[in-house]
Amino acid sequence: MILDDIKQLNETIAKRIGEVNDLQKLEEFRLEFLVKKGKMQQLVDRLKDVEKELKPVVGKELNILKSKVEKQFNELRENLQNKAESSSNIDLTLPGRRSFKGAVHPVMQTLNKMVEIFADMGFSVAEGPDIEDGFHNFDSLNFPPDHPARDMQDTFFMKSPDELVLRTHTSPVQIRVMQNSELPIRAIMPGRVYRNEAISARALAEFYQIEGLYVDKNVTLAELKSTLITFAKRMYGENSAFRFRPSFFPFTEPSAELDISCYICGGKGCRICKHTGWLEIAGCGMVHPNVLRSGGIDPDIYSGYAFGFGIDRVTLLRTGLDDIRLLYENDVRILKQL
Ligand code: PHE
Repeated sequence: MILDDIKQLNETIAKRIGEVNDLQKLEEFRLEFLVKKGKMQQLVDRLKDVEKELKPVVGKELNILKSKVEKQFNELRENLQNKAESSSNIDLTLPGRRSFKGAVHPVMQTLNKMVEIFADMGFSVAEGPDIEDGFHNFDSLNFPPDHPARDMQDTFFMKSPDELVLRTHTSPVQIRVMQNSELPIRAIMPGRVYRNEAISARALAEFYQIEGLYVDKNVTLAELKSTLITFAKRMYGENSAFRFRPSFFPFTEPSAELDISCYICGGKGCRICKHTGWLEIAGCGMVHPNVLRSGGIDPDIYSGYAFGFGIDRVTLLRTGLDDIRLLYENDVRILKQL
């Protein structure tokens, strides 16, 4: 009797569907009961042989069973799929995702290190504007009116007003610090500077300097030397060799340049050090009395020393690069190594 078979199938299905606990078993269930030749359809096919007066009852029972099974099947499939997905999300055997991190530019790394060392020695940090007036960039620093640095070849002048320039060094900040600080002064002044120069492996038109200034009573050249050597040993290691070479700057007297033994050839002489065995890293000297006066300080009572490092140059020494342009080409393959 077909009604008994429907009841029977209902029970079988209820039992079998209760046993389905993964997608594989669900597929087996579908193939057994729900496909065209499956057990459900076999019962439906028998409807045509059912006596006329029983047909509505049998048809109704079949429909109830069919839609119940389909509904259960669909729900179960959704549950099992969700379960499979969420468990695949925590597949511990998958390799981790790499995160890409930015990094501090090598020139800024050098700057930070230099600031840190000078800060340990009691220097505070001051800053000044990139666009300077002629007074701060030249006159107050004792540049005579016909000094070659004022030439168009060396300096970027603003079109208007024409007394403004892109600062050619950080020394103008010395004057601003003297004008605005209490004595004694012990400050470093990092910043970007500009020169109308042909770009080459050793020179850029835009680069970084760090200026240092110490003004107090009885400041001596010996203090300048010991400060710079103490700094340079911490920066480059105890075993580096240094020398001071007499030099000239309008704003210091006497003036000197600090050289470090060449890191490439160890002092034997090579292309980088132009076969001298030495590399120039800083200009320095005792602050010229005229400069102290420009800053509003009485040179009969106070004296001071000043120095200026090229930060890019120091970065080359630190990293062993032999072309300054590599620092600014933004080639990640190079920056990553530094
Ligand atoms: N301003 C000088 C330069 O740009 C460096 C310097 C600074 C020299 C302070 C002496 C004292 O070359």
